[in-house]
Amino acid sequence: MGRIYIFTGKGGVGKSSVAAAHAIKSAEEGRATLLVSTDMAHNLGDIFERRLGREVEKQVLPNLDLYEIDPDYVMEQDFPFVMEYLERLFSDLGMADAPEIGILPGMEELFSLLKIAEIFNKESYERIIVDCAPTGETLSLLKFPELLSWYMKKLFPIGKVGVRVLAPISKAVFQVEMPNRRAMNDIEKMYLKLAELEELLKNRDITSVRIVAMPEKMVVEETKRNYMYLNLYNFHVDGIYINRILPTEIENGFFSQWLVLQKGYITDLKECFEGLPIYEIPWYDEELKGEAAIRRIVEDVLVGKEVFTVTHRSEREHFLKSGEGYQLAVSLPYAKKEEMDLYQAATDLVIRAGNYKRNIPLPNTLYHYVVTAAKFRDGTLYIQFEKGREENESGEN
Ligand SMILES: Nc1ncnc2c1ncn2[C@@H]1O[C@H](COP(=O)(O)OP(=O)(O)OP(=O)(O)O)[C@@H](O)[C@H]1O
Ligand SMILES: [Mg+2]
Repeated sequence: MGRIYIFTGKGGVGKSSVAAAHAIKSAEEGRATLLVSTDMAHNLGDIFERRLGREVEKQVLPNLDLYEIDPDYVMEQDFPFVMEYLERLFSDLGMADAPEIGILPGMEELFSLLKIAEIFNKESYERIIVDCAPTGETLSLLKFPELLSWYMKKLFPIGKVGVRVLAPISKAVFQVEMPNRRAMNDIEKMYLKLAELEELLKNRDITSVRIVAMPEKMVVEETKRNYMYLNLYNFHVDGIYINRILPTEIENGFFSQWLVLQKGYITDLKECFEGLPIYEIPWYDEELKGEAAIRRIVEDVLVGKEVFTVTHRSEREHFLKSGEGYQLAVSLPYAKKEEMDLYQAATDLVIRAGNYKRNIPLPNTLYHYVVTAAKFRDGTLYIQFEKGREENESGEN
């Protein structure tokens, strides 16, 4: 089965360069490889010094295909009515004053991920390497399938028949317009795809997330936060890259202070991500443009290493039977207790950490359970559920 490697990190840290180096190595190992960019500001064409079109560019090197996804094109081709409908829906919900695209941020990039899932399922790539946009966008991108499928579950719990019957009254009663049937087919299609996508991205046997960082104060901080959020959304991070490490030979007056600082941040990153494979990449004396330049990373850092093998395994969150009730453990490394919040909504558990909030739908078995305790210990949030009183009082359902 194929595997997906997603490279993420703060802007300008070297995601595209490191992803490209992995793609070259993978192709050289004789594996059918696709390097794909979801960043709207594509630069794979620059790195490989060729013009790329809107479709997959085949055999750029033996075993290596390149693809710069154009989400507008994907949307037009695959989901022509959805955007139109969603735009109307969000404006009905009073969310129209979202950014330019008129919809939630990350919406367009979502189509890139859907496309990747489709390629994964249809084509026979052994490795799909994903070069992402900078962290903020990528996070909203990654949490999007979950968020959107959550919205959809809330908004369209009724089947198509229901929609047809309700459509005329929905505007009056629910203050939102129901999709017309054509859009509904598309929405259903997309809903299924979203569920599939979420499953694919969180499946530890399929998707690895790799974080690229640099030994710099701001980057170290953002990297830790990024790691926490990726954990909050239950992604499997299994590798860290520290890029742009200054060579120690330059120890002279001007750089010596920088060397000391870098050393500190490298130690910091290593301590933070102990247990994860960490790769260190030197700072080169040239811009990494062109295949030859990218190969320097392959030769200096990746050669002879099993960089595609998953050696670190984070466990996928699950509900564990615990005494009379159940326990859910959510890994939240580097989360701050004071920035955390937890509450139970009808059928969801809502966890907030910093600026991000996640709705975890509760399994049916837990509908009558309530959160009785929560404890944050060693970077993990333990949530205890016990049987609530309602059940005895209100009978079934
Ligand atoms: N180790 C390195 N030594 C020298 N230059 C580097 C190194 N890594 C990356 N660069 C250069 O830094 C710039 C940014 O790198 P890259 O495009 O790979 O980063 P990115 O994280 O993908 O950026 P963005 O967030 O804009 O997508 C490029 O010009 C690249 O050639
Ligand atoms: Mg990039």
